[in-house]
Amino acid sequence: MATTDHGVTSPTRARIDARTLRQDRWWLSPLTTFVVFSAFVVYATVRAFMGRDYYATPYLSPFYSPCLGDCVEGASDFGQPFAWWPLSAALIILIFPLGFRMTCYYYRKAYYRAFWLSPPACGVAEPHGSYSGETRFPLILQNVHRWFWYAAVLVGLVLTFDTVLAFRPMPAEYAVGDGETSGIHMGLGTLLMIANITFIWLYTLSCHSCRHLVGGRLRHFSKHPVRYRLWTWASRLNESHGKWAWYSLFSVAIVDLYVFLLATGTIQDVRFF
Ligand code: FES
Repeated sequence: MATTDHGVTSPTRARIDARTLRQDRWWLSPLTTFVVFSAFVVYATVRAFMGRDYYATPYLSPFYSPCLGDCVEGASDFGQPFAWWPLSAALIILIFPLGFRMTCYYYRKAYYRAFWLSPPACGVAEPHGSYSGETRFPLILQNVHRWFWYAAVLVGLVLTFDTVLAFRPMPAEYAVGDGETSGIHMGLGTLLMIANITFIWLYTLSCHSCRHLVGGRLRHFSKHPVRYRLWTWASRLNESHGKWAWYSLFSVAIVDLYVFLLATGTIQDVRFF
């Protein structure tokens, strides 16, 4: 309920002058979130606007997938319907994974605490004098999360396809050893993409909206054994949703950085076969 007379300043609460009585290092978690999340936002923004060095055969950066703009040769497996787009191709699709994460229930908790101090931690008074929760614009828009989930599933499928393509045979100019190209490619980039798509799916399928989608609005689980089973799996994954949120955030950045280093010629791909 929206109110301006609430929380620790409410007349119904005990008068305690200290902002918190906690003795532990409660500030460590929001501070870590602030630093890591800020670093990711800066990195992702720079890379998204860069508009180059996002493809190194056969790897495509997840920031640019699917590559629907005027992309470099080999990067567009779904055509280039936005070839007219004058800016970076990443800006065409990044709204979907970005919107999914920004409206995520776990990230909301994390960045409300780290950036808005609302509140900074359990048992620590927030500095704000009023509180309207997510009942008003713009935070009421957080409710679109379930729709971003559908988009995130599509993006996950595309990234899965990219990971399969990371196994494809390399052109002759990339041959290793005696000059022969093997029938299948496996490099460090392939392994990084496998790890990334694994974390992406764990994050997507452990989503609270996914859990509600498969198991919500039912009166009797006994009459819906399949949905009950799916709900059980989603619930089990959901217990570690915060962990998957961070792991997948790191993995997309690591894959992008690896592709960037390859594309700029800074490093060579570690090829296994
Ligand atoms: Fe985190 Fe849906 S709640 S992705």
